[in-house]
Amino acid sequence: MKIAMVASEAAPFIKTGGLGDVLQALPAELARIKGNEVALYLPYYKKIKYDPKVETELVSSFTVNLTWRQQYVGLFRWKNGNKNLQVYFLDNEYYFCRDGLYGFYDDGERFAFFAKATLASMCRIGQRPEIIHCHDWQSALVPIYLEAEYRDRLPEARTVFTIHNVEYQGKAGPEFFNEVLGLDDLWRGVCTHDGCINFMKAAVVKADLVTTVSETYAKELRYPYFAHGLSGVLASRGDKLRGITNGIDVETYDPARDKALVRNYSADDLNGKQTCKQALQWELGLAQSDAPLLAMVTRLASHKGIDILCYIIRRLLERDLQLVIVGTGEAKYEHALQSVASEFPQKFSMNLKFDSALASKVYGGADIYLMPSKSEPCGLSQLIAMHYGTIPVVNAIGGLKDTVLPYDPTTGEGRGYTFQSYNGDDFLGAIDRALADYRGDRAAWQRLMKADMEADFSWKIPAQKYMELYCSLL
Ligand code: GLC
Repeated sequence: MKIAMVASEAAPFIKTGGLGDVLQALPAELARIKGNEVALYLPYYKKIKYDPKVETELVSSFTVNLTWRQQYVGLFRWKNGNKNLQVYFLDNEYYFCRDGLYGFYDDGERFAFFAKATLASMCRIGQRPEIIHCHDWQSALVPIYLEAEYRDRLPEARTVFTIHNVEYQGKAGPEFFNEVLGLDDLWRGVCTHDGCINFMKAAVVKADLVTTVSETYAKELRYPYFAHGLSGVLASRGDKLRGITNGIDVETYDPARDKALVRNYSADDLNGKQTCKQALQWELGLAQSDAPLLAMVTRLASHKGIDILCYIIRRLLERDLQLVIVGTGEAKYEHALQSVASEFPQKFSMNLKFDSALASKVYGGADIYLMPSKSEPCGLSQLIAMHYGTIPVVNAIGGLKDTVLPYDPTTGEGRGYTFQSYNGDDFLGAIDRALADYRGDRAAWQRLMKADMEADFSWKIPAQKYMELYCSLL
C-alpha cells in the first residue's frame, strides 16, 4: 500500500511533544510491513535545514498560490530514506526558516501553505498515495485542498485524520477564508465553526476517517467536557471516529539497553533498578533511603493535573516517601513547586528543565509514577514508566484508562492505580493504596513490576490496526 503521512513534527528531525514520537515510530513500523511504501512530509524548519546530521537533496521546486500570494516550494528528500520509507521536507524560508515551530501570528497561513504544498509535491513527483494520513490541525487542510483542487491528479487517495489533542484546533478569523485559503465559496461552511475558520473541524467533517490516539478518548470526544467545542461535530461522525492506542518505541525506551542508566536491568533481573534508584537519589541530593520514590516527568500545565498535585503536595510529603519532578511550564506552578521543594530538600527534588537523560534516570530509578492528567488523549510517559517497571498512579481518563488497568492485589491482575474523579483527595487516596501495597507485600509488588515490564507497548499492534482501517477505505 502507498501511504503518505503529513505532520508538523517527527523525531528524530524535530519534536516538541508526543506527536513527534508517534511520527517517528508509526511510519517506520508501517514501512516494515511487506508491500508498504511510506512517505512522510514535514515542513523544512530552520532547525532541520541547518542540522548537519540531516542530509537532504533537492527533488523539485515550483510555486503554489494562496489567493494573490505565489509562494515558492522546494521539495527536499532525506538522503537516508529507502524505498519503503522516504522523508520529504517542504522548503519555504519565509514560512519555516524561523526559530521555533509554532506560535507565530501567521501560523494559519503557514500551515495552509504546508497542506497545499504537500499535495502539490505529491502531484509533482507522481506519488499518488492510496492513503493520506494527516495529524492534528497543522495538516488538517489536506483533505479539503485534496477535494477542492487536487482530486483529478490524486484520484485514488483516501484520507485519514488523527487528533492527537483536540485543544489545539487551528483557528482564524472569518476573513482568513477569502484572504488566505482561496477556496471556492462552497467550502466556507465546512471550514467554519462558531463563526471562525477552524482547521480541525474542517478535517473532521471532510476526512474519510477520523481517529484519535486511544479508544476512551474517542468516546470522550463526543462530550463537551473533553472536546473544546467540537463535541457535536465529532459525535456526528459516528463510527467514522475511531480510537487506536499509541505504542512506544521499545528500542529507544529499553531499560536493558538505555545508556543513561548506571545499570541496566530487565524483567528477568530487576537488581539494576535498585542501583538506579540509589544513583538517582545521589545525583539529586535526596537522602539515601528505602522509602518509595515517586516521580513525574511532565509539562507543568494544569491539564497535566499539576493543580491537584499542588493541592495535596504538603500532605503527600508528610508521608515517608521521596518525590522527583522533572519539567517546565506555567510560572505559577514552577514557583509553587520550587518553594515546597526548598522546604523538603531531602525528600523532594524539583528539576525545572527538560533533559532526556535525566528523564530516563527517573523512569529507571523511581518506584511509582504519577500522572493525574485532567484529560489525556493517549499519554506516553505512563507507557515508558511501566516499561521501566515503575508503577503508575493515574486519573482513569483517555489513554490512561485504556493502558493502566486497575491493579487488584487479590488476583494480581492489572497494571497500576487509578482514581475516577478529578480531585486531589481521590488522587491522594490512589497514591496511598499504591504505597500500602509497596510496603505490604514486596513479592507481589515485584510481580506487578515484571508484568508491567513485559506488557506489549510496541507499535506492532497499533500499526496493524491502522492497516486494517486503511484497507477498509480502499
Ligand atoms: C498529544 C497528547 C498525548 C498523546 C500524544 C501522541 O501530545 O496530548 O496524550 O500521547 O499527542 O499521540
